[in-house]
Amino acid sequence: MAELVATLASTHHPFYLRATTAPPEQQIPQAPEWKRKVEAYRETLSKAKPDILVMIGSDHFHQIFLDNCPQFLIGKAERYDATFGNEEREFGIPKYVLEGDMEMSRFMHRDLMDQGFDLAFSNELKIDHSIICPIITVRPDNDLPVVPIYTNIFAPPLPSPRRFYDLGRAIRKAINAFPSDKRVAAIGTGHLSLELGGPRQFMETGPDPVFDRQALEWFRSGDIDAILANVTHQSMAKSGNATHGFLNFILMMGVAGPQAADYVDYLDLFHTMEAYVTWYPRTGAEEQAA
Ligand SMILES: [Fe+2]
Repeated sequence: MAELVATLASTHHPFYLRATTAPPEQQIPQAPEWKRKVEAYRETLSKAKPDILVMIGSDHFHQIFLDNCPQFLIGKAERYDATFGNEEREFGIPKYVLEGDMEMSRFMHRDLMDQGFDLAFSNELKIDHSIICPIITVRPDNDLPVVPIYTNIFAPPLPSPRRFYDLGRAIRKAINAFPSDKRVAAIGTGHLSLELGGPRQFMETGPDPVFDRQALEWFRSGDIDAILANVTHQSMAKSGNATHGFLNFILMMGVAGPQAADYVDYLDLFHTMEAYVTWYPRTGAEEQAA
């Protein structure tokens, strides 16, 4: 059976590439530290030596619109084009082609349905920065096949935080049940507190620094019970109008299981806090000792 070797959850700031590759005199003051932190984070994936990446992201109204908006969707394609016109223009993100893993996509789709998650599917999915940004940051050679899963974090009514967590648990089970000797890493991106187009967009920190610090503590402790007791659609809206991207962090905690993160780093950046979190699966003995 396949083996989950790492679970990564991070933000997906679309300006990372442009900010860190601009001529030094044009770089923002935080660029060198940002690059250092991303390269350190990359190592948390590299050392797990994955063969396949299960990628969790969310379409930012690039391809999925209000005429037909699935809550959860899995890509089932041989390859995926990435990067939309506005992402090239505004963020300087180049076009990519990601190789798919059809076998695992098919298995994951069937297995998730058998577990009670009737995902929509797309044989022609195109990838936006929610998935290409983590490729740029943690796997810049883009040398591994992917299984992309999209979640709805933008268009209400959204699934509950509990549903995101449970989907993460189901994805973990599907990875464990995949008949293969491949090493699988799950990588998901979302947001901490975030405001887009609202009055709190351009603060020096994210719109709710108290929430952001609390979120880091929850990752460090693996306290999913506290998250599910405190985080609601309403509470996320109070923390910033795009904070619902935190749901993808909750999903990734579901993939990892209720355990403390092995790696937590962050960076206060213009209008947002970046977060970089990694969990490694516990062996049976470690589980008992914890
Ligand atoms: Fe986003």
